Amino acid sequence: MPFTRRKFITNASKIAAASGIAGLTTSSLLANAEKNKSSAADKIAIALIGCRNMGFGDLQNALKVSGVECAAICDVDDEVLKSRSADLAKIQGKAPIHYKDFRKLLENKDIQAVIIGTPDHWHCLPFVAACEAGKDIYVEKPLANSMAECDLMVSAARKYKRVVQVGQQQRSGAHWKQAMDFMNAGNIGQLRKVNIWSNFNYGVGQPKVSDEAPPPGVDFDMWLGPAPLRTFNKNRFHGSWRMFWDYGGGLMTDWGVHLIDMALWVKNITDLPISVSATGGNFSYLDRAHETFDTMSVGFQLKDYTINWEHTAGVQSGPYGRAYGLAFVGNDATLVIDRDGWELFPEMENGKYKVPAIPKQSGRDSHEPHMKNFIECIKTRKDPVCNIENGRLVAVYAHMANIALRTNSRLEWNHATKNFGNNQAANALIAPTYRKPWVLPKM
Ligand SMILES: NC(=O)c1ccc[n+]([C@@H]2O[C@H](COP(=O)([O-])OP(=O)(O)OC[C@H]3O[C@@H](n4cnc5c(N)ncnc54)[C@H](O)[C@@H]3O)[C@@H](O)[C@H]2O)c1
Repeated sequence: MPFTRRKFITNASKIAAASGIAGLTTSSLLANAEKNKSSAADKIAIALIGCRNMGFGDLQNALKVSGVECAAICDVDDEVLKSRSADLAKIQGKAPIHYKDFRKLLENKDIQAVIIGTPDHWHCLPFVAACEAGKDIYVEKPLANSMAECDLMVSAARKYKRVVQVGQQQRSGAHWKQAMDFMNAGNIGQLRKVNIWSNFNYGVGQPKVSDEAPPPGVDFDMWLGPAPLRTFNKNRFHGSWRMFWDYGGGLMTDWGVHLIDMALWVKNITDLPISVSATGGNFSYLDRAHETFDTMSVGFQLKDYTINWEHTAGVQSGPYGRAYGLAFVGNDATLVIDRDGWELFPEMENGKYKVPAIPKQSGRDSHEPHMKNFIECIKTRKDPVCNIENGRLVAVYAHMANIALRTNSRLEWNHATKNFGNNQAANALIAPTYRKPWVLPKM
């Protein structure tokens, strides 16, 4: 059984009640109880829903923070549960409780916080249920697989006053923050445009294979959950679900939320774009299994700023010799950044650089500080660095881009009617249709 704050306090009061124990005075007992109480207050019992890949990475980072223990894990695949449980027994000296249904896990009152590491179509329901159950939540990005789900997750988090960190870890990366501060101090001049690109092989999916029976030990109906019923195909399952609309949004949402988040953060943007237009399609690798676009260029129009997005799946090179990155174009210099670091390309005037050259700045992994920030906020009840509104805003940008291309439209959001006006094709993609018995929650 996991060690919990409640059990600790019960044990401490049992000891206090037995204050006649040889060698212990009442005052030393009370002092010890006080000391132990504060260390008990630092204990956090965490649980993981969706354990195969990223969720487990997140959990490992959580376990590096003193006082955090993994009390339970939940997955619909027995093999994943078995191997992650063995990993955890090694890491923390104790195997967690197993669940195959997240609703049962959420009934466990010893659990204070959950990490949601399920595929994107399975973020919203466990998230809302976790809010209702009073758990704090680290939810992986993109916040959800549709605009409507993102909105209701914001309402749930705020209604139930939960601490929520969204897994856009760049917000905790020192070199990302340094670059934001550098630009905000005026060092690149007026920033009017950011070009973002993201070229990855995995975006074209795996070679096509036939449908087959689900692997033994997998509750495939639960894996599909609110998504439409269909036969099992391993290309749409672990890891590669990202390239199918029912479960994910391809490179546009997978990498889009990470990188566009930086383009919004630098200017503290909290609004939707004025318009979104997109070009591209599925032009290549037709022997590969994917529905999401392999080729895409998107323009997000804002008042005095444009955000340009590009991806070419199946290609691994890009501008400035980087497969992915952002180029913040200022009047005096362009700042180019990715997870490895950033560098400056100054403009020239009268044979001189407009801004002093600076050495290339290097970056470090930001997953660990991002999780640390979440754990700290569970204790302080402050908003983490990537709060639910940050997660919602950028996910909505990315979903709007996919909807623009899926419907061949230039989209404008109508704030009064909360839709794309009379563009019925686009409006039909705002919210998913959940498969029964699952119901899109109302807030
Ligand atoms: N922040 C990052 O840098 C980053 C990187 C990779 C992935 N991610 C995000 O993490 C999430 C998971 O991606 P992944 O690559 O780990 O996917 P994955 O397919 O490797 O793992 C998902 C796990 O969830 C389990 N699962 C599915 N439905 C479930 C349910 N109803 N209840 C419990 N478990 C269920 C699956 O069996 C699987 O073990 C996605 O949202 C993805 O976008 C974020």
